[in-house]
Amino acid sequence: MDRFDLVIRGGRVVTECDSMQADVGVRDGVVASLGRGLGRGRAEIDAAGRLVLPGGVDSHCHIEQLSASGIMNADDWESATRSAAAGATTTVIPFACQHRGGRLREVAAEYHALARQGALVDYALHLIVTDPTPECLQSDLPELVGTGHASIKVFMTYDAMRIPDEQLLDVLLCAREQGALVAVHAENHGMIDWMSRRLVDRGFTAPRYHALSHPRVSEREAFTRVIAMAELLDQPIMIFHVSTAEGVSVIREARGRGLKVWGETCPQYLFLTSADLDRPGLEGAKFCCSPPLRTESDQAALWRALELGDLQAVSSDHAPYSLDEHGKLHAGPSPNFKQIANGLPGLQWRMPLLFDAMVSKGRLGIHAFVRITASEPARLYGLADRKGSIAIGKDADLAIWNPDREVDLDDSLVLDQTRYNPYSGRRVRGWPEVVLSRGRTVIDKGELQRERGQGQFLARKAGPAAQATGDRSPEFDPERNFGADLY
Ligand code: URP
Ligand code: ZN
Ligand code: ZN
Repeated sequence: MDRFDLVIRGGRVVTECDSMQADVGVRDGVVASLGRGLGRGRAEIDAAGRLVLPGGVDSHCHIEQLSASGIMNADDWESATRSAAAGATTTVIPFACQHRGGRLREVAAEYHALARQGALVDYALHLIVTDPTPECLQSDLPELVGTGHASIKVFMTYDAMRIPDEQLLDVLLCAREQGALVAVHAENHGMIDWMSRRLVDRGFTAPRYHALSHPRVSEREAFTRVIAMAELLDQPIMIFHVSTAEGVSVIREARGRGLKVWGETCPQYLFLTSADLDRPGLEGAKFCCSPPLRTESDQAALWRALELGDLQAVSSDHAPYSLDEHGKLHAGPSPNFKQIANGLPGLQWRMPLLFDAMVSKGRLGIHAFVRITASEPARLYGLADRKGSIAIGKDADLAIWNPDREVDLDDSLVLDQTRYNPYSGRRVRGWPEVVLSRGRTVIDKGELQRERGQGQFLARKAGPAAQATGDRSPEFDPERNFGADLY
């Protein structure tokens, strides 16, 4: 009898801390053995000359979600997770997004139904809260955190999404009580609105002005403010899509004071700049996202922050819109920059771009690549018992990379429904040839091998990243101060 369902033979297995020549034996979807000369598998994959890495965990992406401006993402679950798998990502964490007036419990059920039908890889869900009513805070959020949705996202900008500071405090407190991580889109709304009006009123409407309309200090201010609120309540937070050197400094300072402030950035902030917004015609619209693309010196600061651990993860923030009337140009053929749907596709490109930069070109190296793209996001979001590494007992979510294969990125490779590749024109070295989810092949040499609906929901409890430190600020002690006891 075969000992394993599958043996991946002769590859170099790499985790965030180890690298070894080993076979991987898979049984019942999990890694059952690691070692040389393993017994036979019912199926075998020859990985000689290849790297066997954990499948990526993309902890921030938008799938089949209604955007802030009411436009539906280009991707459904099938196309989004197909593009994720082609790019070596085997776990995604998109959102169940409440819009004002919506009942979070029902919203989550709707997103679950879509995911169940469409997902090709495993998934968890963050909860976007835009309307923290008493019903939401006291009933829906506790119930949903209890059923495995251990992270909440809030917005400090976008007219339709943002919540004021008082409500943000309510959400932070609720998360603290329920043991959930709070992720924040942190930009100063007033500054962006004020700048945008002045620019548009004066006729500065092209995509290139989008970057100008999100001043760098708006990131610094919002980071400082949300960190102060989190500090008051001793609630850990994750700052999403950090784009500026100033933002990094604020996070570094907070972490230096012992606060549990986590941060991620995204490929677009590491590999593109605001100059991309200035491409001819409407090309610049492809690069409109918020926060906007910045400068090369910001890129250097973000890389340094990843190296030092001030930022822990790189997610795609995949927010897919096609360059037509259904997406980027929903407001008409000549929109001003405020009317262009925000976001870039990235599920398919995050891992190959980072592999090329970090492994092939040597920036931070292969162990940091695994840590930043898989192990750390799995830990931060409570998935590390199953995802993010290669170890006996973990899910056999694996990507077999050809480290020597060179690929010219262009639009013809795109598997998502935006039909454009923001990184067209780049050549990357290193490519995921076979991608497995729980021991089943999802992608083999670019070909999809799996049916929609095979991805499973990952119910998760928050990990240590979401636990309060226990160091309460003097003003926040519900037993004493809310009984108006002085300190
Ligand atoms: O431009 C972006 N990032 N769009 C997606 C929505 C968000 O802000 O996360
Ligand atoms: Zn955001
Ligand atoms: Zn986002």
